[in-house]
Parts: sequence; C-alpha cells; structure tokens
Amino acid sequence: MPTTTHVSNFPAPLMLVLLLLGVGANAQLSSNFYSSTCPNLLSIIKTAVDSAVRGDARMGASLLRLHFHDCFVNGCDASVLLDDTANFTGEKTAAPNVNSLRGFDVIDTIKTQVESSCPGIVSCADILSVAARDGVVALNGPSWAVALGRRDSTTASLSAANSQIPGPNLNLNALITSFSNKGFTAREMVALSGSHTIGQARCTTFRNRIYNEANINASFAASVRANCPQSGGNNNLSPLDVVSPNVFNNDYFRNLLSLRGLLHSDQQLFSNGSTDAQVRAYSTNSAAFFNDFASAMVKMSNLSPLTGTNGQIRRNCRRTN
Ligand code: HEM
Ligand SMILES: *[C@@H]1O[C@H](CO)[C@@H](O)[C@H](O)[C@H]1NC(C)=O
Ligand SMILES: *[C@@H]1O[C@H](CO)[C@@H](O)[C@H](O)[C@H]1NC(C)=O
Ligand SMILES: *[C@@H]1O[C@H](CO)[C@@H](O)[C@H](O)[C@H]1NC(C)=O
Repeated sequence: MPTTTHVSNFPAPLMLVLLLLGVGANAQLSSNFYSSTCPNLLSIIKTAVDSAVRGDARMGASLLRLHFHDCFVNGCDASVLLDDTANFTGEKTAAPNVNSLRGFDVIDTIKTQVESSCPGIVSCADILSVAARDGVVALNGPSWAVALGRRDSTTASLSAANSQIPGPNLNLNALITSFSNKGFTAREMVALSGSHTIGQARCTTFRNRIYNEANINASFAASVRANCPQSGGNNNLSPLDVVSPNVFNNDYFRNLLSLRGLLHSDQQLFSNGSTDAQVRAYSTNSAAFFNDFASAMVKMSNLSPLTGTNGQIRRNCRRTN
C-alpha cells in the first residue's frame, strides 16, 4: 500500500521538490491551500456572499463580472480592486469598468472579516475567485472547486483593461479572437457568455442595437427602448436576461433563439454563424451548459496567477502594502 494519498509516480520527497518548483499547470494552486492557516475561509466568504445577494440579488452577477475583469487583465491577481491615487493609476477608470463594475464593498467586507480571523494570510485574488463562484451558486447556478494560492499584484494596467476586455460591439470573429488571446476556445467563449443569464447592462451598451439592428425581436426592442431613450439615460439599466435576471439558468440561450439578446455581442452568438448549434444545444440542455460553464470558469480563474514569492498578500484590497 502507498503511504501517501496523492497520485504520483514520484516518491514523496521528490514530489515535494517538484511542487515547490511549480512543475505542472498551476501546480502551485490547490484547494486546501489555506486549510490549516485559515480553516474558516470558505464559510466566511459564503456567508458574506449569501447575505449580500439576499440584500441585492444583482450582487451575484456583479461579483462574477468583477472576477472576469480581474482575470482578463494580467491574470487573476486582484489588480482590478486597486484604487487610483495621486501617484497610482489602476483599472477602475478603464472604459469597460468605469460606472459599471460593482461589488468592491462586498469584497472589502469579506477581507475585513478574513483579516480578523487569519491576518496576513489570504489574498484578495483568492477571495474574489471564491466570491464569484459563491455568487453564481447563490443564484442557483452550478458550483466548481476553486483552487487557491493566488497572490495579489502590486501593479495594474489601465491600457490592458481598455484593450483586452471584450466590448459589446464586437462581432463573432472578434469575440472568438478576444477569448482565443486568453487561451479559450470558441466553445468556451460561448459557455462563459452564458454569464449574461444574470445581471444588468446600461443603456449606453445596447442603445445602437435596440434602435438600429435588424436581428432583434420587435416587441423586445420596443420594451427595452421604453427605458433607454435615443439620447440621455445612458445609465438606465435593463436585464441581460429579460426572462429571469436573478436566476442562473439557460434562459440566456433561449432568448437568443427568439432574437432577444440585449447586447450586440450576445446576439452574435446566434446569428447564422458557427456557434448557432451550440446555442441551440444549451437552450434545451441546461446540464450541458452548467458543466461547460463550470469547467470554463475553473480555467478562467487559473489565468496567470501570481504564486510563491511573487506579488504580496494585500492587507487592504484597495491598495498595495
Ligand atoms: C463575451 C464577451 C463579453 C462582452 C462583450 C461582455 C460585455 C458586457 C457588458 C457591456 C455588460 C454591461 C456592463 C454595463 O452596462 O455596465 C456586461 C455585464 C455583465 N457581464 Fe459581460 N461580457 C462578456 C463576457 C462576460 C463573461 C465571460 C462574464 C463572466 C464570466 C461576464 C459577466 C457579466 C455579468 C455577470 C454582467 C452583469 C453585471 C452586473 O449586473 O453587475 N461577461 N457584460
Ligand atoms: C505615493 O504617495 C504616497 C503618499 O501619498 C506615498 O506614501 C507612497 O510611497 C507613494 N508611492 C509611490 C510608488 O511613489
Ligand atoms: C419575440 O419574443 C416573443 C416573446 O416575447 C416570442 O413569443 C416571439 O416568438 C419572438 N419573435 C421572434 C421572431 O422570435
Ligand atoms: C439568419 O438569416 C435569415 C435569412 O437571411 C434571417 O432572416 C435571420 O434574421 C437571420 N438570423 C439572425 C439571428 O440573424
């Protein structure tokens, strides 16, 4: 009988060396990273996210998007959480983020509780990754295991946030390229876009579609126009999923079949193109969507983490130590 429980062809001491060297994809991240140093971490985060979502269902969506916008800019390193100061420019004023990202206060609340329980141990990047998962679960979506051990950046990139986060006016080829640049297949891009089964968008992000596009459901367009005038009202909100904005399900894909995608980029996934069949499949098979979504989220949350002695464990998620 083997004396250790891990699956390996190597004897334990060599395995340890390999792990310390970080051999293998994200060998540094592990689900038990804080199990002895912060055993209550997962329950602290879950309790706080559940409470935030009970008060504001949209917060589940907002936390998910915050994680996405972190990971697509130099990896999941909590760069998106850094505030601008007189001598530091973060990512919060980037076009995809400004007047749009939310949930920073929820992350602060969690961080304060985690610091009082296990000071100086847990990164903001890990808190955000788990909170995003718990936000999806709180809205009845799928769950997935979040590997831990990310560290926090001391830098941020406004220019990368502006250029690497996909925008709502992209066509299908550009969406595929944007995700391919981060290592995702077109299939994974479609699964991840199913995030738009929850949450809200501002008028300014879909105005052109509801007034000028042809492949939109006429009654849907009329109802959305009522709250998004041709000029003014830029920040007026409409649900990304008109049927069930606070439930994580496959209605987003069903809506695309009836031309009720809110964003231009949403309807691009079902517009006589190469991803139509996948949209149809998800529209009738929510289990397939949930499985593919969870796998793609694991992949997204593992984008270029800082590990080992890189980066730091911020004491306050809004600033470097
Ligand atoms: C496929 C390319 C994508 C584009 C073009 C896109 C674009 C957008 C836009 C324009 C909004 C509305 C923002 C606002 O009006 O303030 C939005 C909201 C949202 N996005 Fe995406 N997104 C994409 C992919 C994703 C991915 C991969 C995720 C998560 C994994 C995601 C999660 C969300 C969520 C949950 C919301 C609602 C947030 C809230 O209500 O606070 N999106 N997205
Ligand atoms: C930025 O300014 C603050 C004081 O406002 C100072 O403490 C900090 O060291 C400065 N950081 C850098 C990188 O210059
Ligand atoms: C438009 O949406 C309604 C539901 O609001 C649906 O019954 C109808 O079939 C849709 N029209 C088209 C062309 O898909
Ligand atoms: C697909 O093409 C047909 C025929 O040109 C068109 O009527 C339909 O609106 C298109 N569907 C979408 C979603 O663009």
